[in-house]
Amino acid sequence: MTMTLLDIMRSARVIPVIAIDDPEHAVPLARALVAGGICVLEVTLRTAHGLAAIRAMAAVAGAIVGVGTLTQAAEFAAARDAGAVFGVSPGLTPALIEAARKSGLPLLPGVMTPSEVLAAREAGFRELKLFPAVPAGGVGMLNAIAGPLPDVTFCPTGGISIDTAAQFLACKNVACVGGSWLTPKDALQAGDWARITALAKAAAALR
Ligand code: 3PG
Repeated sequence: MTMTLLDIMRSARVIPVIAIDDPEHAVPLARALVAGGICVLEVTLRTAHGLAAIRAMAAVAGAIVGVGTLTQAAEFAAARDAGAVFGVSPGLTPALIEAARKSGLPLLPGVMTPSEVLAAREAGFRELKLFPAVPAGGVGMLNAIAGPLPDVTFCPTGGISIDTAAQFLACKNVACVGGSWLTPKDALQAGDWARITALAKAAAALR
């Protein structure tokens, strides 16, 4: 059975936001995260290796791979064809709404204000990324939005760490959080997969 975006968010609880600088890192990184209990992986298109990394990581047993940093319509179909099963964008525009519909790729669009939440909801999106979560007001902002806009569910991302993730996950309108803290650049460069698995285990334990 196909998982909905909400199913994926709820099953994840913590989604690592990944930027691959070296394509050789993709498979061992995905294996290390899955070994630590972190299975939903957001692979961003911030580097030239994003699509190839999605293709490689989607083949790793247990990994559920999405594409992150979608900013252009043309990227949707390419990411879907590479194996992404969901997409994340820092924002939302008419072109991105159209691309999501055409590609069939479930999209988690970014919002930062109540008006952006309303616009996204009007376009049919009920699962949203609060980005950048901490500069946007963090937990206080999420709790304040839950009153007037109770029917949207968030993945806050941006400025969250292992020390603050639990506070975000305790918000009633939060299904999962995203962050880059599980994939420190120095650990990737050193091929320190054991450290990545340890970070994943600590994040998975937040559940
Ligand atoms: C994102 O794109 O969601 C953020 O860059 C991740 O934010 P962080 O690096 O502060 O965790």
